[in-house]
Amino acid sequence: MKADAPILDAREVTLQYKTRDSLVTATHRVSFEVMPGERTILLGPSGCGKSTLLKAIAGFIRPAEGQILLHGKPVTRPGPDRMMVFQEFDQLLPWKTVRENISFPLLINGVGRREADDRALAYIEKVNLTKFRDAYTHTLSGGMKQRVAIARALAMEPGILLMDEPFAALDALTRQKMQAELLELWASIRCAMVFVTHSIDEAILIGSRIVVLSPHPGRVRAELNCGRFGFDNQGSAEFGALRRRIQTMLFGDAFVDAGEDHG
Ligand SMILES: Nc1ncnc2c1ncn2[C@@H]1O[C@H](COP(=O)(O)OP(=O)(O)OP(=O)(O)O)[C@@H](O)[C@H]1O
Ligand SMILES: [Mg+2]
Repeated sequence: MKADAPILDAREVTLQYKTRDSLVTATHRVSFEVMPGERTILLGPSGCGKSTLLKAIAGFIRPAEGQILLHGKPVTRPGPDRMMVFQEFDQLLPWKTVRENISFPLLINGVGRREADDRALAYIEKVNLTKFRDAYTHTLSGGMKQRVAIARALAMEPGILLMDEPFAALDALTRQKMQAELLELWASIRCAMVFVTHSIDEAILIGSRIVVLSPHPGRVRAELNCGRFGFDNQGSAEFGALRRRIQTMLFGDAFVDAGEDHG
């Protein structure tokens, strides 16, 4: 495999759900690539198929048309090389402690007990939860639960980290803190990442590349290179211009309120 080959290559991917009496097309011929170390954002309005795309990358569903290639091979099933973090706080196992939640997937994937425990502790430290390592998850705040979910995914050392609006259910302050922490954590790992959001500001802050999707069924409207904005630039003219450009792509020229994130 060449060094500059994509980790993930989605080619003309159409995803559909067959229900008892209808066929729902979630995405139509969506193509994008994820290069090593790239933070790719899938940005689009509710119902445009973002979660469905992540599920297909994870191997939970198969494309009706097109292909999803991981290291050049079609994805056919879920695997520990693609770990997912969800929006919901209840993605952890309530009968296990923080430490056990993180070591459990390692153990069932054949990692020895000692290494699983060492890795769990190392990632607990990376997400600043060392004091809570033996706590049960119902005693944690929403932000802390999301940190555990991120540590659990990263401890598996996946080829690609999949995140489906992981901060959407958090309050604004915690969300901003978690965005900064994620970027810091990513800088020490530099794994490829596909991050789903419908927040334009979050997309600009987290992404190195943004795939803008149209409303249902999702099609690629544009791909933008990003990654030059830190939190300090959020009020800058350049950030505002990019925000407006994306707003126009999503909502058309009729969109006039430029000051806020309506993503
Ligand atoms: N299990 C399902 N069965 C049938 N249709 C589904 C199913 N899951 C999703 N859909 C439909 O597929 C389309 C895309 O849904 P999806 O959840 O991927 O959107 P999304 O972009 O993640 O939206 P949101 O931002 O609200 O999470 C929607 O029209 C949705 O109603
Ligand atoms: Mg979704």
